[in-house]
Amino acid sequence: MNAVGIFDSGLGGISFLKEAVRLMPEENYIYFGDNAHAPYGDKPEAEVNALALDCARKLCDAGVKAIVVACNTATGTAIRSIRDSLLIPVVSVEPAIKPACAIEGDGKILMLATSVTTNMMRYQALKARMPEPARIIDVACSGVVDRIESGVFEDDAFDDLLERHLGRYAGMKVDAIVLGCTHYVFIKGAIRRYAAAHFEGEAAFTDGNRGTALQLERVLRERGLRDTSGKGAVEFMTSGDYSRYKPMFDMLMARRM
Ligand code: DGL
Repeated sequence: MNAVGIFDSGLGGISFLKEAVRLMPEENYIYFGDNAHAPYGDKPEAEVNALALDCARKLCDAGVKAIVVACNTATGTAIRSIRDSLLIPVVSVEPAIKPACAIEGDGKILMLATSVTTNMMRYQALKARMPEPARIIDVACSGVVDRIESGVFEDDAFDDLLERHLGRYAGMKVDAIVLGCTHYVFIKGAIRRYAAAHFEGEAAFTDGNRGTALQLERVLRERGLRDTSGKGAVEFMTSGDYSRYKPMFDMLMARRM
């Protein structure tokens, strides 16, 4: 059976790919990183919509049986047009604020994402459905995706950006931090370290990757598309530099983070 297609603006969606491969190691995957156009997060919505649609079409041309939008920014802007224009199932990541809101406490929830995501109607509507929306503080973290795309992952290389975006919350009690961009999963260690030094309480972390992988498994099964006897091949395609993708995936799989 043919592969599952996954795309993101760049490397970030590999954090989702890892979860999917762990859950369904027999499936084949084609990952497309649109790194010639990354980051999406600071672009106008219409442009992100067109780019995301183009990624989905490229994967369809490669013959995939389902698509995962492994980019919160693209989900917010383009999920409707992607679903409307394709016949295959489409699953997408979304900021994991629901599990974060389930964490009891009187502290705040920081939702870290791109500015396109935090401003999107889709995300704001999701937030409005939470039991206590005022508990959630949206933090648009510009510059983080650019740095990760340039190949920087070391924990101490993000202190300046974290200070710029989170410094104003120093001393606040924080119960949970939502990684609302798939790239941010790579710097969870840096964010955890910053949070431990500057916030009160021990913040739990949530991201949408595991939930989306479970949703993908369900959708494939229900549509009769689940392949439990495949080879588990993973193929990478990009619109720009190709060199970091496979090493990044291998590193994540080896790290078991
Ligand atoms: N990984 C994308 C997301 O989840 C990054 C967006 C960007 O390219 O700025 O939102």
